[in-house]
This record gives sequence, structure tokens and C-alpha cells, in this order.
Amino acid sequence: MIQRCTRFGNCKLVQSFRAGSSSSPSSSSKIGDYHRFASQASSSLQQVLEPSTYSDDENPGVDWDNLGFYMMRTDYMYMTKCTKGECFEQGQLSRYGNIELSPAAGVLNYGQGLFEGTKAYRSEDGRLLLFRPEQNAIRMKMGAERMCMPSPSIDQFVDAVKQTAIANKRWIPPAGKGSLYLRPLLMGSGQILGLGAAPEYIFLIYVSPVGNYFKEGFAPLNLYVEEEFDRASRGGTGGVKSVTNYAPGLKPLTRAKSRGFSDVLYLDSVNKKFIEEVSSCNIFILKGNVIASPAANGTILEGVTRKSIIDIARENGYQVEERVITIDELIDADEVFCTGTAVGVAPVGSVTYKGQRIEFKTGPHTVSQELYTTLEGIKRGLIKDNKGWIVEID
Ligand SMILES: Cc1ncc(COP(=O)(O)O)c(C=O)c1O
Repeated sequence: MIQRCTRFGNCKLVQSFRAGSSSSPSSSSKIGDYHRFASQASSSLQQVLEPSTYSDDENPGVDWDNLGFYMMRTDYMYMTKCTKGECFEQGQLSRYGNIELSPAAGVLNYGQGLFEGTKAYRSEDGRLLLFRPEQNAIRMKMGAERMCMPSPSIDQFVDAVKQTAIANKRWIPPAGKGSLYLRPLLMGSGQILGLGAAPEYIFLIYVSPVGNYFKEGFAPLNLYVEEEFDRASRGGTGGVKSVTNYAPGLKPLTRAKSRGFSDVLYLDSVNKKFIEEVSSCNIFILKGNVIASPAANGTILEGVTRKSIIDIARENGYQVEERVITIDELIDADEVFCTGTAVGVAPVGSVTYKGQRIEFKTGPHTVSQELYTTLEGIKRGLIKDNKGWIVEID
């Protein structure tokens, strides 16, 4: 990867600007391009900016054909702060880099943090598209309430996502080659010694161009049903995207991967009988014309992709149910698939439970493939969006 000086050269600070917030977050909106960003930013900069040595669209040296799901250092990140009980101030774009935190920060000591994940796509005709970013904003708001944190407003969140995507425009892969993953992060940054809510908070967004999440690419996943460890329990934080939900999953995930599985499928923590979700994605089963996914009742994360697939499936004539699903029902399913921003719609080829490997239908003429094609088509601007899901940013 080649890192070079940009339009904003060596400047440490890029002045904040509002890239035009949409009144309706789900409506399509044009908010100007990077040039506008540059002129708006430079009009009120606190430091003199160096001229750019390359154009906004210049390939930053990425091998677009071999993208995986890895962190790549890009040009800009967004950041804003607030004190407890107040609202987040208008954020700023700055060069991507490390941030300073007190060793006593709430997020480091007590895990007071939430993250989100959303993507920007480049369409065949050169438009830059976001997919339902307001849904991530809503989910962050709900999570912040659970974690005793202030959160950015929906408009502020969506606006920040737009700004960060535009500022890193040249890192959005060419159409069909991948996407720009945007990672909004909310954390208790203020120092706190006794257990309590931090006195200060940071909301930031960083990005990385990504390809497939799983090393399997588009190949079917092989899941292992986890019986020893739980992901979430009733009354816990499984339903929000708390940072504390993920590290405990590393042990079962690492173990499953070392045994050749793609990921683990969690069961409910009480009965060990009902399927919940995979480490970082939701699960669906298909039997006949009926598609079912575990109900989002607090222990699973209600995915934006899950919601979208449910709508698309209903529109395509399937009966969709959100309910309790036993592991036995999954074993009896025709198809199984996972959904998530990072994974897309990923077919499951096998599930291993109590030493028994059960295989499912995968391939070109499957329902998961049909749903994947529609969802990806909408996200990438190949299929007309009649639902107001796409936010055009350039
Ligand atoms: C635990 C978990 N479940 C499900 C999902 C899927 O959610 P979404 O479709 O919003 O990406 C994610 C990813 O964010 C996740 O981390």
C-alpha cells in the first residue's frame, strides 16, 4: 500500500464542516463532493493546508482484486467529544492516526463502548452509495441508552458517516471489487476509577476498504454449534453492539477455526436448545417456502442486513417468521444462511452439532443466492431502490 501526502498535506487538523444533513435520513441525498469539502474546509481552517499531490480518485495503491477484511490505514477519520449529560459537539475530520486516552478511561477499564459497521459502495455508473446508515445510528442510540452513554443524534451520525466516506473517497473500491467499511465507535473516554459512567465521551469513525469477511469468500460456511460458551444471556447486552460482547467470543471462535470451521453458532444460554446467532452475523433457516430467523428479543443483535433480508424475502413471496427456533429445526432445514454488513448473505454448507455434520443446499439456485443478489443489487445501485434504503453521497 502506498501512503502519500494528500490535498491536506501535513496539516494536523482539518476543520469540521457539515456536509449537508438530510432532513430524512433514509431519503437519497446529494451532498456535494470532495472538492466542496476541500473548499468548505479550507475557508475556515486553523492551519494552512498543503496542496494535494494527487486527485481524489487516484488509486491509493490498493490491490482491489485481493481485498480481504483487514484494517488498512486510510486518509481521514472523524471525531467529536462531549461531556456527560451534554450533546456531542460538531465533529471534525482529521488525518487518520492514533488517539490519546487516559489509562483510566471508562472504555479501557469498564468496557463502556459501542461500535457500528456500515459500508459505502461505488456503483457501476460512479455514484457513491451508503446503505441505511440511519439504522446504525438508531442502533447506536439504543445501545448508548443501555450502556449509560450519550449518543450522537441520528442526523449527526449519518452526517458524520457521509463526511468520513467522502473524505476517504479514493479508498472506496471500484464497482464490484468491494466496499469501504465505516466503523463508528462510541466510547467512555473520560477517566473514572470507581465503577460508574465516564465523565467524557468520544464518537469517532474510521474506515478501511474491504472485500470478503470470511476467508471462504463466497464458498459456503461450515459452522460449529457452541455448547460450552454462551454469547449472551437474558437481561445482558447481547441485543446491543457493546464492545464487551466480542472478546469473550474469541476463545470459542479460535477453537472452532483451529478445527477447520468458519465460525460458531451460539445457542440460548438457558436451555441450550434454541439457536441464537453466529459470532458476528445473524442466522436464517429455510424450510419449503418458509424462512425463519431467531426473534430479536434481547439476546441477539438485530442486524440491519437481517431486517433488510426479511423485507426482501416477504416481497419475493416467502413467508417469514421471527421466532424461537430449535436446533432440531435447523438440522431439518433445506437451507441455512447468515446475514451481516461484513458478511453480506453467506450460505451455510454445514453445521456440526454433537459430533454430527449436517449439510445444507447451497449453490446458484438457492433462496439465499436469490436474496443475496437482490440485496447486493440494491446496495450497489444495480437494482432500483424503491424502499428509500440508499443514501447517495456524491
Ligand atoms: C453479533 C452480531 N450479530 C449480527 C450482526 C449483523 O448486523 P448487521 O446486519 O447490522 O451488520 C453483527 C454485525 O454487526 C454482529 O456483530
